[in-house]
Amino acid sequence: MALFGKKDAPAAALPEKLPTHVGFIMDGNGRWAKKRGLPRSLGHVEGGKTFKKIMQYCKDIGIPYASFYVFSTENWKRPQNEIDGILAIMREYLDEVQMHLGDGVRAIFLGDKSAYPDDIRERMIKLEKDTAHHTRLTVMLACNYGGRDEIAHAAREIGALIQEGKLDPASITEQTIADHLYTAGLPDVDLVIRPSGELRLSNYLIWQCAYAEYYFTDVLWPDFGPEELDKALIDYAGRGRRFGGV
Ligand code: IPE
Ligand code: IPE
Ligand code: MG
Repeated sequence: MALFGKKDAPAAALPEKLPTHVGFIMDGNGRWAKKRGLPRSLGHVEGGKTFKKIMQYCKDIGIPYASFYVFSTENWKRPQNEIDGILAIMREYLDEVQMHLGDGVRAIFLGDKSAYPDDIRERMIKLEKDTAHHTRLTVMLACNYGGRDEIAHAAREIGALIQEGKLDPASITEQTIADHLYTAGLPDVDLVIRPSGELRLSNYLIWQCAYAEYYFTDVLWPDFGPEELDKALIDYAGRGRRFGGV
C-alpha cells in the first residue's frame, strides 16, 4: 500500500491566510464503524486512510505544521482488543512512512513513548531521526499524549534542573515551560479541527491551544476529506484573532 496516493487537487480557491499549525482531533472512527455494523477496529483502519489523505493534502496546499491526535493517555482505558488493533495499524504506518522518507515530511511524536512495545518505540525514534532534516511539512503525531501529562512531565524536568542548581525558580517564564513540552521549538496551534460532533479538546495540546481557533463538524473522521478541510480553512481566514489586543 502506498503512503501517498493520488493527489487531491485543491477544490475551492483557498484563502491566502492559511494557519501555520493545524491540529486534527481524529475522532469518530468507532461511530463510523458502528453505523455500518462493523467492528470498531475497522473504523480505525478507515481513520488511518483519512490521516494519509489529509496529511498529503496539507503538504499539497502548503500547511507547514499539522498535528494529529492518534492516541490519548486516557485511551488505554479501552478494551485490549481495540488497543491491539490500533497498535497493529501504527506498526503498518510506521513501516510505510519509513519507505517515503524522501517526501519532505518530518515526523515528530508527541507523548510518552515509553508506554509502547520496544519495536514500535524504536521505529518512532528512527523515523524522527531519519526525517529530522525535512522541511516541507512537519507532522506531529500525538501518541500516548495527554496535555496534563505533558505539563507534569515538563514540571518534573524543570524541577530536576532546579535541584541540580541549574535553574533559579524566580527566572521561570512561560517560555521556560514551553521549552520543556513535547512541542519545544514548534509553533502553537492556530486552528483545531474536531470532527464527530464532540465539542471538547479531550486533553489535546491544552497549553499550545491557548489562543487557537476551533472548528467543529459533525462529519466523522473516516468521512473527513479535503473539501471539509477547505471549509475549515475558509472559516478560519474570516476569524479576527486578537490575542488580547484590540
Ligand atoms: C478516535 O475515534 C480514535 C481514537 C480515540 C483512537 P474513536 O474511537 O474515539 O471514535 P468514537 O468517538 O468512538 O466514534
Ligand atoms: C480524543 O478522542 C482522542 C483521540 C482522537 C485520539 P476520544 O474519543 O478519546 O475523546 P472523548 O473520550 O470523546 O473525550
Ligand atoms: Mg471518540
